Amino acid sequence: MPSPNRHIPLLDRRRFLQSSAATLTLGCGDKGGPGDTGGPAGEPPESIVRFPRTPIAGDMTDTRVVFTFFVADDSPVRFRVWEGETLVVDQPVAPNGDGFHKLIVDDLTPSTTYRYVVLGGEDEPFENRSLYGQVRTAHAPGSLEPVRLALMCCIGRGTILPDYYFPPTTFQPTVEPFQWELLTHAANHELDALVHLGDQAYLDFVWTDEGGTQEAYLSAWGWYHGGGYRDVYPLAGLYATWDDHESADNGLFDPWAMTPDETERLANAQAVWYRVMPIAAETPAEGPVWRGFRWGDTLELLLLDCRYELTPDRLVSPEQLDWLLERIEASPCRFVCIATPKPFAEITSSSQLLSDNADRWEGYPADRARVTERLDALDRDGVIFVCGDIHTNYLGRVKISGDAPSERCWEVCCSSGNVNPLTLGFSPEQFAFLDVTPHFPVLTFDPAAGTVHVAFYGTDGSLTFEHTLDA
Ligand SMILES: [Fe+2]
Repeated sequence: MPSPNRHIPLLDRRRFLQSSAATLTLGCGDKGGPGDTGGPAGEPPESIVRFPRTPIAGDMTDTRVVFTFFVADDSPVRFRVWEGETLVVDQPVAPNGDGFHKLIVDDLTPSTTYRYVVLGGEDEPFENRSLYGQVRTAHAPGSLEPVRLALMCCIGRGTILPDYYFPPTTFQPTVEPFQWELLTHAANHELDALVHLGDQAYLDFVWTDEGGTQEAYLSAWGWYHGGGYRDVYPLAGLYATWDDHESADNGLFDPWAMTPDETERLANAQAVWYRVMPIAAETPAEGPVWRGFRWGDTLELLLLDCRYELTPDRLVSPEQLDWLLERIEASPCRFVCIATPKPFAEITSSSQLLSDNADRWEGYPADRARVTERLDALDRDGVIFVCGDIHTNYLGRVKISGDAPSERCWEVCCSSGNVNPLTLGFSPEQFAFLDVTPHFPVLTFDPAAGTVHVAFYGTDGSLTFEHTLDA
């Protein structure tokens, strides 16, 4: 289990480290991965034996970044961060029992790109290294620099059935890390940050076939973070929320009548998500999944949890909804981006969606009305929703007609893999763009122009659609 924080003074900056523990071995050989962003000359070769999973940076503020990484043999390593050519973090990291580590680095400079790597061994000459990654800190308060985000959700390979992880005991065990062509083109884009809207991994069979233990969940994540996410996570820092498949399909248990065993499995899945994700908390109790980040006066990014605070009448808890409304109201930013795993739009469609897709804001009118009433009362423009879950891509208005601020907001829906042909009946009048095949949406928030540029890139990396919104 995670150990208490340790404060470690280092170089000319203060920083502290959180560390945690389990086991996994994946892959073999030494190579530079496709997502490798490169580093200073003279460094040792990458090892996917010792570092089978990409380190991940995330939850960036203007001065802080959270890092997670995994050392397969749980050996002593060193974690380094550079600002340009200047080494700013040089941190020895001791074995901790399972090799899963989380570090929080403070006192960084706003709007600055940092490079980071994990080096194998206690000191020079190091034996090998992880992938290099880069991460950009958020803009300082007052800044009106543009911000560019890419979206991901529901990872897969363009099929109706997701890329489930199958344990060794199942009829078709997963034998090699998942790869997704879509993400191999992510390096074409200059990104400030990545937003993952949930279903980052499909771990249902950990729940049903491996007893839903923490050890099994930790292992299963390796097939994703040791696979196609290596193409994208080294490129920029991550803001992640979750949906059901990070634990198990929501149909596998009744969330309002859980057995003690189901409660334990869910707690295990959630605890493991907090360990492998670069979120600045060790447990849901320490910090909820819903949280916000400000990029100067350009962008207020608000991530929601639409899964585990759900009740028969409410999509989110009263605390989460109050927080959301307060953040919208108090924001000095030109744009507010609400990252809601579930669509906010009232969808006009000639085809019925699956009952499984009913957990949208539209299905919880009281919660939805509180948001629309506040947007209208504030006469708040510049609000854009980004969502996923329903396995399609679109750009559309949140309501087919109407001129109130809450009716003319735009929404971008993303599927990075799984396709839902039932969404093909969505109204072209409401949705300027609709495509069920996997896409990589990139949004550029430009306060000087007062616009949000939305571009969707397809599986081969080419541009499918772009539009500049006056928001
Ligand atoms: Fe999904």
